Order: sequence, then structure tokens, then C-alpha cells
Amino acid sequence: MLRSKLSRGPVYQPMSRQHQRTLTYLLLGAITFGAYYIWSAPPIDPLAVPFHLHEAYMNNRDATKRAVSYQSYDWRTAPFVNKIESYIPLPTGKPHKLPPIQFEKFSETKSQRQRREAQRVAVREEFQLTWESYRDFAWAHDELRPVTGEAIETFGGWGATLVDSLDTLWIMGFKEEFYEAVDAVAAIDFGHTNLTAISVFETTIRYLGGLLSAYDLSYEPVLLEKAVQVGEMIYRAFDTTNNTPLEALDIKKAKSFERIEFAAETSICFACLGSLAMELTRLAQISAQPKFYDVVARVSALIDRMQDTTKIPGLWPTMVNAANEEFNQSRSFSIGALADSTYEYFPKMHALLGGLEPIYEKMFETSAAMMDKYMLFRPMVPNEVDGEDLLLCGEVSTSRPRHVKLQATMQHLTCFIGGMFGLAGRLFSDAHHVDLGGKLTKGCIYAYAAMPSGIMPENFDMVPCASRTSCPWNQTLWEAGVKYHYGGGFISDFDALIEKYNIPPGFTNIRDTRYLLRPEAIESVFIMYRITGDQRYLDDAWDMFTAIVGASATTFANGQVLDVTFVPPPPGQWTQQRVPGVRGGIFTREDNIENKMESFWTAETLKYFYLIFSPPDMMSLDDWVFNTEAHPFRRPHIRK
Ligand SMILES: *[C@@H]1O[C@H](CO)[C@@H](O)[C@H](O)[C@H]1NC(C)=O
Ligand SMILES: *[C@@H]1O[C@H](CO)[C@@H](O)[C@H](O)[C@H]1NC(C)=O
Ligand SMILES: *[C@@H]1O[C@H](CO)[C@@H](O)[C@H](O)[C@H]1NC(C)=O
Repeated sequence: MLRSKLSRGPVYQPMSRQHQRTLTYLLLGAITFGAYYIWSAPPIDPLAVPFHLHEAYMNNRDATKRAVSYQSYDWRTAPFVNKIESYIPLPTGKPHKLPPIQFEKFSETKSQRQRREAQRVAVREEFQLTWESYRDFAWAHDELRPVTGEAIETFGGWGATLVDSLDTLWIMGFKEEFYEAVDAVAAIDFGHTNLTAISVFETTIRYLGGLLSAYDLSYEPVLLEKAVQVGEMIYRAFDTTNNTPLEALDIKKAKSFERIEFAAETSICFACLGSLAMELTRLAQISAQPKFYDVVARVSALIDRMQDTTKIPGLWPTMVNAANEEFNQSRSFSIGALADSTYEYFPKMHALLGGLEPIYEKMFETSAAMMDKYMLFRPMVPNEVDGEDLLLCGEVSTSRPRHVKLQATMQHLTCFIGGMFGLAGRLFSDAHHVDLGGKLTKGCIYAYAAMPSGIMPENFDMVPCASRTSCPWNQTLWEAGVKYHYGGGFISDFDALIEKYNIPPGFTNIRDTRYLLRPEAIESVFIMYRITGDQRYLDDAWDMFTAIVGASATTFANGQVLDVTFVPPPPGQWTQQRVPGVRGGIFTREDNIENKMESFWTAETLKYFYLIFSPPDMMSLDDWVFNTEAHPFRRPHIRK
């Protein structure tokens, strides 16, 4: 039952299509399994085999078929002017035996298992269609345009989707496709780009993270060769006055022996500063070159020193001055865009270093306490909902000392926070944090389910409750919130306003109605499922998956959704939805899809959907730690 591109006509009704798909999955699941496992040799009955063997069926390739790397330039020979005299070494000693992250007694009935396996196959098929289209129409280019089936360069022209998806191919058992992709990766020339400058952050999390993870899974030598080349290029971003990283690296200048050291950034996003840590640490561990760890260890030490000097001590603002090492200028704090992954990496660095470096636990605990105090809020929801289970994470700003103002805005990007609290709560044995992780995850699940499309928007506001323990529904407060955001107090007909913008109860503002195929919500659902074993997370994940596919599926792949409040009209009728920036409005399901699919759709979103429907020892969180682009790295400790 391998679906062909032709089975996706461009004109169809989404609901009937979705319905039909669900039926197809249920009825033909068994046949699909047969085809899948005969096709991916050696044949394995997925319902009979213990799943730690899952990795094993992806045998390494015959060594005689080794791919040979091509580079027009060897980044190891590039200049590094502001030389570092002695390197901070990787922590030595025996890795600590850290507390288990995963739930220890997963169980399921036969019918639960059959359902879950059918769902897993459905995710795999969704990936397969995208991959075949990418292969046919955009091979080795950065992105596939999902509506028109063209290629586009967005991240240096080095095949962002190709590199970002390697480990997904491996994990889903696409062995032939994996090695075909490895051969294409061997031909990528990281020595050249048509861009003047590259994003250091994106290149690190997508390319370096993707290569290291695929190497950690397959041990294919060319992947390490390429990872070292990308790592050496990224390393030049640290050739600054104080060895803090640049946000963008000018490729020509980086290679020039005429240059002096770069000026360090006077304004750099906190995520750009701190979240190169996992990738360069893993590269140092695998390549045994301490210089890669040294530069990120220096940055982590700086972030640690600055933690109590900011406008809200304990938290770091979204923008900081790395050149002067002053973090006290900005008044804006968020765990979303521009800041997110530096926070995310604290517990993950602890895991990656086997608990041998204590500053990450300290930085996490201190900042988490401030998030809990100032940023987490319970949203007011209608009475029939069990609102005590829900939390969201807003943004804060401060105008004067100890006066912190909450803006009750939630970004889709911030939805990773549930998984972060859950993971850290387990690693650092803090039940309160695991509890917060569950509630934050449920906040995002709620925001998905509440929208007409079943998909959470990129950014929205709700009414924050004054108390986390009691929060009765107050219609007046909700109406005031909506009117505040949509046209001041002048709008008299509230019901008309709600209908016009399709605003669900409790939501006061859909700031950005789009869904960009982002992974953060399913990432947290996946982590909380692995921590708790709670089967309800599987149902939530399936609802999210079917809603996303229903709104985003194109003939070739999946595209960004413009408006998650849009409800496709019944056959023979039309509707017009007003979306800021969309000329003419949205009339049909197809109008609602942007011709854009970032590489994180196949690298992250589909991988997390696949993993939650896989047996729980597939990529166990006790053996692997995922970077912010969902690339799993091997954890150092030996599991008994
Ligand atoms: C770079 O530019 C050259 C010349 O314009 C073009 O032929 C090539 O396809 C471009 N490469 C990428 C990856 O965009
Ligand atoms: C930030 O800290 C530096 C060094 O402690 C100090 O000189 C400077 O005045 C502070 N700036 C602000 C805006 O508080
Ligand atoms: C709802 O909130 C408003 C504004 O805070 C308040 O005046 C009113 O008493 C509340 N209504 C109820 C039923 O609690």
C-alpha cells in the first residue's frame, strides 16, 4: 500500500479525504505491514519482535561501498586568528548513573498495540510521500516547495532537507533511501556557498546536528568527515575578540588569511549564543578534539556568570551583549523565539555529559524557578474543561526592579517547554517539574483541540487566571480581552466579532493564525508519553496528526497552513476568511496552504509522531538525547 503521488488529487474535500484515510489505515493496516516488512529486509514481524532489535535490522553497509567525500576547500586549514592558549577539556571521570527518564512499566493490550502500529505506519507513509517528492523534484536542494513541486535554496544550498532527514530515514527503516542519501551527502561541498553569510545557529542545529546523529546511528565514516568540515566552519564563528560566537559567518572572510579577528556581537539572540553547545560537545566527544568543546564550555561559563546580573536575575533576556559581556540591557524575556534552545540545552547537556559538569543543573534549577514564578500561567477556559490541568508560558518584561509584567501570549515555539520540564524533572528527580511538564504539554494539546482546524496557531493570547488553583469562567473578562485586541472598545456586537474571526472561548487574540509545520507540541507530547506511559497522550497525538495532515497535505508533500481558524466550506458553498497579509482572502482548503515546507517537517515533526507511535524502547530517552532539531545523540552512560 505505498501511496503514489497521483493518489493525491489537487482538488478534494479534506473531511472526506481524512475520513477515507482513517478507514484505509484501519482496513489495510495489516496488508501495509506485510508489504513494509517484506520490503525492508530482513523480514521482521513487528508484533512479535522485541523492539530493541529495531536498530539492528539496519545493518551497516558493506564497507567496500564506502562513499568518498568531496570538498573544494578543507575547513581545517582556515585561519583562526584569536588563538586560544589552552583548551577546557571535556569533563573526565566515569559518567554518573543518572535517574531513568522513561516510564519503566509500559503495557498495552493487543488491540492497543495494533492501533498504535497502524498509526505508526500512517506517519511513515506521510513521510514517504514527502521523501519521494523531495527525491524527484528537489534532490540535494535545501527545500521542496510542496504545492508546486519545485526546489528552493534557503540554508546555504547544501541540501538542508537531505541532511536534516538522514536520521529519520534510518529510524523509520528506510535503509536503501538512507544510503542513497548518504552518497548524496558525500558530494555536498561545504567549502562553497552562493550566500555571503550563513546562520551559525541554523547551520549548527540542522547540518551539524543531522550529520552527527546519522553518524551516531549508522557509524558511516563519510558522515563524520562531513561533520568535522561543518564543525570546523562553525568553529571560525568563535574567532572573535572574546571567542563568543557570531550570529552570521561571512564565508569568504572566514577563509581569508588577510583578516584580523571578528568583532564579537554587541547584540546577539540568547538562543544563538547558547545553543551550539550540544552539537559541538558531541563533535568533540566523537572526534576526540577538545577545541570544539572548549568554545562552548567558555560560553556556558559566561552564561552562568551572567545569570544573576540581568534585569530579572535567574533568567536571561532574549538579546544580550556578548562583546561587552553585559546581559543587563534588555528588559524583554521569553522562553520562545530567540531564547528557547539555550534553556532547553541545560538538562540535555547534563545528560550528554553524563552529569559530570554541574553548572547546567544549577542554571536550569535557578531559571526554572523564575519561569514558574513569573511566566507560567493557567489560562481561563470554559467551565466544562478541567482547567486545573492546563498551563501556558507567557513572556515577561520589566520596567523597574522587581516589577515584572506578564504578557499572556503563547508561541508554538514555546510548546517545547512541557518536554523540557518533564525531562529535567526526571533527570534531577523533581516531581514538581514533571507535574509542570504535564500541565504545559496539556496546555498545548488544549490549544490544538480548541481551534476549528484542530491545530494550534503560531501565536495567541488567552486570559491568565489570577490563581492556579481556582479559575471560574468569567464572560466579561473574556469579552474585554477580545475587544482589547480586536478594535478597542468600539465593537459592540461581540458575537459578530467572534464569528468573523472564529475565535474559540477563552482565546483573546490569534496574533498569528499560521501553522508552520512546527514540531514543538508533539515533541512535548512524545516526551511526556515516554515519561508517564499515559495512553491518553497517544490519542492526543493522533488527533494532532490527523488535523495537521488534513489541513496541510498537498499533491507532493505538506505545506504551511495559513489560518488554523479556517473551516473549509461544505461542498457547493464558499466562505471567505480574512487573514492579515493574504490578498483576497481564503476560500478553499487549497488557498489555505503556503508553498513552503521547512526541513523540520521531516527532521522533527514526522520523527516525533513516528516515535510516539513506536514501541517505547525505540530511541529510548535513557540512551539518546535529542538536539533542538530532533537529532538524537548517544548518551555516554552504559545502561545496565
Ligand atoms: C550557485 O550559483 C551558480 C551560478 O549562478 C549556480 O549555477 C548554482 O546552481 C548555484 N548553486 C546553488 C546551490 O544555489
Ligand atoms: C550593566 O552592568 C555593567 C557592569 O556591571 C554596568 O557597568 C552597567 O552600568 C549596567 N548597565 C545597565 C543598563 O544596568
Ligand atoms: C468578572 O470579572 C470582572 C472584572 O474583573 C468582575 O468585575 C466581575 O465581578 C467578574 N464576574 C464574576 C461573575 O465573577
